[in-house]
Amino acid sequence: MKKITLTQYLIELQRNKGCVSAELRLLIEVVARACKRISHEVSKGALGGVLGGAGTENIQGEAQKKLDVIANEVLVEANEWGGHLAALASEEMEHPHQIPSRYPRGEFLLLMDPLDGSSNIDVNVSIGTIFSVLRCPEGVEANEQAFLQPGSAQVAAGFAVYGPSTVLVLTVGRGVVEFTLDRELGSFIMTEANVTLSADTQEFAINMSNMRNWESPIKRYIDECLAGKTGPRGKDFNMRWVASMVADVFRIMARGGIFMYPKDSKHTAGRLRLMYEANPMAFIVEQAGGAATDGYRRILDIQPVALHERVGVILGAKAEVERVTRYHHEAR
Ligand code: AHG
Ligand code: MN
Ligand code: MN
Repeated sequence: MKKITLTQYLIELQRNKGCVSAELRLLIEVVARACKRISHEVSKGALGGVLGGAGTENIQGEAQKKLDVIANEVLVEANEWGGHLAALASEEMEHPHQIPSRYPRGEFLLLMDPLDGSSNIDVNVSIGTIFSVLRCPEGVEANEQAFLQPGSAQVAAGFAVYGPSTVLVLTVGRGVVEFTLDRELGSFIMTEANVTLSADTQEFAINMSNMRNWESPIKRYIDECLAGKTGPRGKDFNMRWVASMVADVFRIMARGGIFMYPKDSKHTAGRLRLMYEANPMAFIVEQAGGAATDGYRRILDIQPVALHERVGVILGAKAEVERVTRYHHEAR
């Protein structure tokens, strides 16, 4: 089989469909290169001195791991030099990072979760990077306000998983494509040209330890799944929870399923971040034929009010997400 690299895929989109500009293509390649660097650092594990805490806290008051800091630095350094951004924002930085004047300034805004699944770093379980690309509105300063666009405005989104292999899942609004890092060639090679999500599933992902805090629609949905064959759903369900959103969503891309981190009485606004976790994943899931809501609204329609705001997330198999969303409306 002919090997198609990420670069070839993007150049062909640029040539044939005109849906990727040269600048967007180069920006995605800069992000992908940074992900290769991070993958390399991650793979060193205990030998690379990259495990453990950094002794600092991020803006959300969460203890930063060394790899959170390293991944953020790698992505910032690569992208500010790259020349395609007006500014970038990250889970690890309180405010948008402006591009130093010594570098050219581009037309895009990049949002990122440099290292997703931090609690899995030290236990050798898959972690990853999530990113979202917006266009900077013309003639405005690339400040926090410029970033506050609904997810439907994204021009590209993707995530990398640093697992047994390193994969990159990408959408530029023309379906979802998956690449695997060929470590010998140093290139991302296409391994799935058109990821599609089945509308139904028998597998759910949720952190069950939050059960006592859930709202009634989530309790109802999970109770019905747990009731199995003899319950209202008439089938047995399986459960998975990696606790790295990248790995849980990748599994859903590979074999279907529904992922939920709903808001509850402890996470009153939700646990995951709208702009660099929920939005890019929702864009990808919808492009693969799935759905994503916060229980009531389509995630991509939400107008953000703050860079680091949180949101309830229900995404994956379309019919299941619609069912959970219906349960929320019925409970109102
Ligand atoms: P991050 O490491 O970027 O803070 O994100 C972790 C997120 C997400 O990846 C995962 O689904 C969830 O937090 C895990 O939460 P629990 O620890 O509650 O399982
Ligand atoms: Mn995360
Ligand atoms: Mn993170």
